[in-house]
Amino acid sequence: MNKAKFLSVVFFVILFLFACQGPKPESPKKFEIPENEIEPSVWGKNYPVEYDLWKKTAEPKPSGLSRYKKGSDLGGTTYDKISEYPFLAVIYSGMAFSVEYNEPRGHYFMLTDVLEIDPLRRGAGGVCLTCKSPYADQLKEQLGIDYFKKTFDEVHSKIPDRHKELGVSCIECHNPKTMRNRITKFTAIEAFKKIGKDPQILEHQELRSAVCAQCHVTYTIPKDENKKSEYVFFPWDGSKYGDISIENIIKVIKSSPKYKEWTHKTTGYKLGFIRHPEYELYTRNSVHFNANVSCADCHMPYKRVGSFKVSDHNITSPLKSGMKSCIVCHSEGEEYLRNQVLTIQDRTISTLLKAGYKLAYVAKYIERINGLAKDGKEIDNAVLAKIQDLYEEAVYRLIFIIAENSVGFHNPTETMRILSDSIAFASECEKLTVRILTENNVDYNSIKLLLSEHLNNRGKKKLNFKPEQEFRDPYNLLYKFIPEKTEER
Ligand code: HEC
Ligand code: HEC
Ligand code: HEC
Ligand code: HEC
Repeated sequence: MNKAKFLSVVFFVILFLFACQGPKPESPKKFEIPENEIEPSVWGKNYPVEYDLWKKTAEPKPSGLSRYKKGSDLGGTTYDKISEYPFLAVIYSGMAFSVEYNEPRGHYFMLTDVLEIDPLRRGAGGVCLTCKSPYADQLKEQLGIDYFKKTFDEVHSKIPDRHKELGVSCIECHNPKTMRNRITKFTAIEAFKKIGKDPQILEHQELRSAVCAQCHVTYTIPKDENKKSEYVFFPWDGSKYGDISIENIIKVIKSSPKYKEWTHKTTGYKLGFIRHPEYELYTRNSVHFNANVSCADCHMPYKRVGSFKVSDHNITSPLKSGMKSCIVCHSEGEEYLRNQVLTIQDRTISTLLKAGYKLAYVAKYIERINGLAKDGKEIDNAVLAKIQDLYEEAVYRLIFIIAENSVGFHNPTETMRILSDSIAFASECEKLTVRILTENNVDYNSIKLLLSEHLNNRGKKKLNFKPEQEFRDPYNLLYKFIPEKTEER
């Protein structure tokens, strides 16, 4: 290579390196942000642009753009997941989620929404604050085991008054000295070690997802014999980075009676629970994860504010921010991309509804079988144990997809795999239950979900079914199997 050619290569390499770098903080540091500074406005003195964008997570987002995630839409309507998916009233019967369960909204509301929801939902105690307050690690240090065991209100009262409603804060994602992203929550630090990743040396792109994985993951709360919370951890044991499977999560949940956090009223089964597994679903071999795309790439795209280029800290659904993050990599227009997302989600919803109703009816069959057993009918215990096992396998898979917040988009093929396995387990379970019912002269076709009994007059707020929020099968196939009218199911 001659000298001129060599120099031009060097020039382009340097240009490329510059082009690939994210934006720099918009102003030189004015002062040192103290190591434990929780108050975002103090950080805002150095970084006013990010601070102003962050405050916008309190603002409603344009409505009519997202089809299935309207939690933060303009108009102030609360989107009730029990009305959206009425079968949940049966699947979650006996636990707080069947009383009040709403779609998520902006980060500003992280703690206020916990304070406003039906008090049953705070039943697990102080442990809830682990993901709901930047004070979590401090409180755990201060209170020891009491942090987990004490009631939510007792632990919450220890947070200084001015921060009793503070949502997701700068300190949860940033090192105040360098502004580099970091993870601080003890749950996430322990969990990354379990999957073979040192949380202190994550690469740039890995970190841009790991900060979100502090909260957008499932967790398990072990209970002692008095049903008091003992700890909280991510059930990632046996999994690897980039490969946290539903199968391994179920293995963990089944490995100890302590992880059975609630009793399902309809079937009488003690069950574990699964929450918002965005990180797990996304990182399991999805097209985007494999292409090295991070959560922040889609939810915090670079944005021009005046003469600054910053990461958009007004974190929300890409559908509500003009698909700007997608357009960085996809040259197709906004409408095309929105339709891609909505088509993936329509397919997910159609399959999810079929999986949900299938299992809800099976739960009712099991309830009837329990009644038969109570009346002294002899039923083979080995078959009953098999029914319970199949139900568990089906329900965890179903909950995994319902609790995941992208309605399939984060990993469409894995979503379909998990849902079809849920249906397969539920069908096996149904076979055994129908056989027992038939042997005992019960016509299983006469067993109904009786949704009206479950959907109305819920909890302290006496919540009722909102029929206009119910998700219908976009392909109308569901109504070949169950009555079209919700109250007739
Ligand atoms: C400290 C915990 C925590 C961290 C860290 C966190 N989130 Fe959240 N996030 C939440 C909670 C809780 C909600 C729901 C708040 C509510 O409904 O009150 C939420 C809501 C959201 C929403 C819905 C917003 C809307 O407008 O409806 C999106 C999108 C989101 N988070 C993405 C992210 C991304 C991307 C990251 C990482 C860059 C992240 N979150 C980091 C806890 C967290
Ligand atoms: C390739 C782009 C992309 C990536 C990467 C991505 N998301 Fe999403 N995310 C979306 C889209 C699209 C939706 C659907 C939004 C809707 O339906 O309104 C969504 C939905 C969500 C929601 C629900 C939003 C709401 O309004 O309620 C949350 C929370 C979320 N993502 C968090 C994450 C987290 C955490 C990660 C990383 C583990 C991640 N996302 C990675 C594109 C992405
Ligand atoms: C949910 C996690 C999260 C929270 C909360 C958060 N940030 Fe960030 N922030 C990020 C991510 C991710 C980046 C991109 C970092 C990168 O690519 O290196 C970023 C980047 C930045 C940058 C670098 C310049 C830029 O805009 O890309 C600054 C400065 C910053 N944030 C300030 C703040 C301030 C101030 C707050 C609180 C008001 C805050 N951040 C809250 C996740 C967060
Ligand atoms: C950082 C780059 C990047 C961003 C940001 C990004 N994508 Fe992609 N996307 C890719 C790559 C790479 C592929 C793999 C296919 C390919 O090579 O063209 C892909 C594939 C897809 C596919 C087909 C695969 C599948 O999972 O169904 C869809 C649909 C898609 N992207 C939509 C979106 C949407 C919507 C957004 C914004 C919310 C988005 N992408 C943001 C890089 C990106």
